[in-house]
Amino acid sequence: MKLHHIVAAQQFDRSVLAEVFETSKEMEEVVKRGGVADYNHRIMATLFYEPSTRTRFSFEAAMHRLGGRVVTTENAAEFSSVSKGETLEDTIRIINGYADVIVIRHSEVGAAQRAAAVSRVPVVNAGDGAGQHPTQALLDLYTIQKEIGRIDGLRIAMVGDLAQGRTVRSLAYLLSKYQEVTLYFVAPPLLKMKEDILEHLREHEVRYEEESDLNKVLPEVDVVYQTRVQKERFGDRVADYEKCRGLYILDRSSLTRMRSGAIIMHPLPRVDEISMEVDHDPRAAYFRQAQNGLYVRMAILKMILGTPPEGCA
Ligand code: CP
Repeated sequence: MKLHHIVAAQQFDRSVLAEVFETSKEMEEVVKRGGVADYNHRIMATLFYEPSTRTRFSFEAAMHRLGGRVVTTENAAEFSSVSKGETLEDTIRIINGYADVIVIRHSEVGAAQRAAAVSRVPVVNAGDGAGQHPTQALLDLYTIQKEIGRIDGLRIAMVGDLAQGRTVRSLAYLLSKYQEVTLYFVAPPLLKMKEDILEHLREHEVRYEEESDLNKVLPEVDVVYQTRVQKERFGDRVADYEKCRGLYILDRSSLTRMRSGAIIMHPLPRVDEISMEVDHDPRAAYFRQAQNGLYVRMAILKMILGTPPEGCA
């Protein structure tokens, strides 16, 4: 199965998801063996207009582990010709001549779709403002499957900045493809899950509840998906940010309320929403989750680039 552009989580169906998981599992073995040289004539361009640790490093490490090459800029907003007024579309047209796949992160919702619309080579959305982060959702789902052994029938709490968090939006779309999943949205009034996602869930008959008391939800769920309140998206609304921050913190007392087989996830980075005392509990899955990003992104690149060309291995 070959993938082309990856722009939104809705584009995946369960058969593609199963293949992503299967290939990710194979990639874990590939990494244990030290990688492969399958794609040593292929080039990935990473174009990040917003900061990143996990997504950019894991994509770049994934391409290196597959034997491919990477061209990148530390900060596309400052160090690419966009700073001279070049449009995103022109930048993408130019990189089409240099790279076989483009991974883009941008502050504007819809930027990856705009890039894909003018791109001959596959474009991967690595986060578009408060829009979506589909590859994060793929690695989140892979983590749930790996940690718990199933996705159907799970009860999952999403906590924190649900209005501006792109990872929870993409994850909600993917979870709507599974059976008997129940979602609990725990957020302050200003950061509630947006209506487009709630409407999608109703259309697909996915059960969800909106709740303000995290302690009521903790004993009920299999997964607690914590998120950071995204200060950078508040702009000059400092008072609103102050109203929302620090309301939902997972700490030692939260662990006592959680089920023994439940897991805590977080797309990271965290600020103060998970106390460090939680890190040593076996249910804290967020660092394993970030590690899975490498395997899932290797799988995605492999499915995009297809069979290695003759003579490249
Ligand atoms: N989860 C995630 O997108 O992390 P980065 O912002 O560090 O890439």
